[in-house]
Amino acid sequence: MRYVLIGIAMMVFLVVSLAGFRGDISRKAPIELIADMDRQPKLRPLEPNSFFANGMSSQPLVKGTVRQSEAIPLADGSDVYPFETEHPAVSGLQMGTTNAVVNIPLEVSMGLMERGREKYTISCVPCHGGQGDGNGVVKYFGISAVKSLHDPDVVKQSDGDIYRTITLGKGVMKGYANTLSIEDRWAIVAYARALQLSRLGTEDEVPARFHVKETEEAEASAIAEEGQGK
Ligand code: HEC
Repeated sequence: MRYVLIGIAMMVFLVVSLAGFRGDISRKAPIELIADMDRQPKLRPLEPNSFFANGMSSQPLVKGTVRQSEAIPLADGSDVYPFETEHPAVSGLQMGTTNAVVNIPLEVSMGLMERGREKYTISCVPCHGGQGDGNGVVKYFGISAVKSLHDPDVVKQSDGDIYRTITLGKGVMKGYANTLSIEDRWAIVAYARALQLSRLGTEDEVPARFHVKETEEAEASAIAEEGQGK
């Protein structure tokens, strides 16, 4: 009986010592056989520090600090940096006015279009749909008021208006300034214009080799008539 009690006592001791103190947070160093690099002299953000006159460990940026970023080349041969927030290519507004920029300030190349398609597919398709007509998948989950990009209201907007909708959002649509770069946003504008054109183009704009030939047309209507006759 004595051994049984001692046995139980040892079991209790073992369980408590192994499981009982788990989850406690300690700032003390863990037992280390070889000192590793977990601890080092450093200041935590916002920790008080008497070294500086303002008593803070995190110091504000030195006046005149220029943010590091890459220049964006524009169609007119000049460059713009993302921190130039007043610049038309960044704000989407004509300098010193509240009028939107009329045309995409970046050079519209096939590369920009491809980028626009990629980014549109990632960020806009769920709501606006692959063709831009507002038939994205969210429609089946209760969001039905998504505007069609082919809406005459949107078609007649300037490029800067669309850029600003992407940047700042509109109504229930959120802005994409923090997930899409300035170039991405202009690229999407270019792609949105291409989507619009796909429904606004005239026959003259389609290369001749894709025109439906008269004989084909006649054949097709003959087949259609035949079909109706039966
Ligand atoms: C979560 C769904 C959603 C996503 C994602 C979304 N939109 Fe929208 N968008 C909307 C809705 C809803 C409206 C209608 C807003 C309103 O008028 O209240 C709208 C409106 C617009 C308009 C018309 C604004 C106007 O002037 O009436 C444009 C242009 C547009 N979106 C472009 C885009 C582009 C480009 C993207 C991708 C970067 C995008 N949207 C992503 C939901 C979305």
